[in-house]
Amino acid sequence: MKQTKDLLRNLKALTGPFPDFQFNNIPNNPSELFLEWLYIAIEKGVPEPHAMTLSTVDEIGAPDARVLILKNVTCNRWYFATSATSRKGEQLKLNPKVALTFYWSEIGRQVRVRGVASVMPPEACSKDFLERSSGARALALVGYQSKEMMQRQMLEDALLKAKELVKEVPDTVSPTWKLYTVDPDEVEFWQGDPDRKHIRVQYQRNGESWGHRLLWP
Ligand SMILES: Cc1cc2nc3c(=O)[nH]c(=O)nc-3n(C[C@H](O)[C@H](O)[C@H](O)COP(=O)(O)O)c2cc1C
Repeated sequence: MKQTKDLLRNLKALTGPFPDFQFNNIPNNPSELFLEWLYIAIEKGVPEPHAMTLSTVDEIGAPDARVLILKNVTCNRWYFATSATSRKGEQLKLNPKVALTFYWSEIGRQVRVRGVASVMPPEACSKDFLERSSGARALALVGYQSKEMMQRQMLEDALLKAKELVKEVPDTVSPTWKLYTVDPDEVEFWQGDPDRKHIRVQYQRNGESWGHRLLWP
């Protein structure tokens, strides 16, 4: 049987061809470039292009990360939603510094966003909650995200009740479901190159405006 190491060595990565990235002619702010790249990812059929890794740190500064769905991007703000009482929710209360990482393999692109997360006002959280599918709302109403589950059957029973509640009172909102916004101070765009001459453009916030520079690959 093949060794794992050899199997991994023989897997292809960054084979291209990839879209052209005219880095000399880019927008002044990172969310505009992000949206250009996101639309290309959608157009090229990248699966789940709105899936991103959210990194947080715990109370002793140890990193943690998991995949979430991107909910929106407005003027230099990125949005995600989750339970405030989940593990990540508790970590965010203690330290709101986060990183978001996107990887779109079909176009060889990675985007890294570093900044501070904050909870949006209650109306925005409720609106996000009510826009979710009924199944997703029922699961969030069950709650307990990231807590230990003693028996799988407990989920089935709780979901049954929550689904009834969603059916009978469709505007029920989970009090712990929060929409967060990330206000970044740094956003990096990485364009992979099959010849390994990758292009890295890093935007940095200077007060109200943004500057950018190239980084060595
Ligand atoms: C593609 C994908 C999308 C996900 N989207 C979300 C999401 O938008 N919100 C969420 O709370 N969890 C989402 N999850 C589940 C999280 O990865 C994670 O398991 C959960 O939020 C608990 O994380 P925590 O224990 O660190 O709080 C998603 C997972 C995957 C694989």
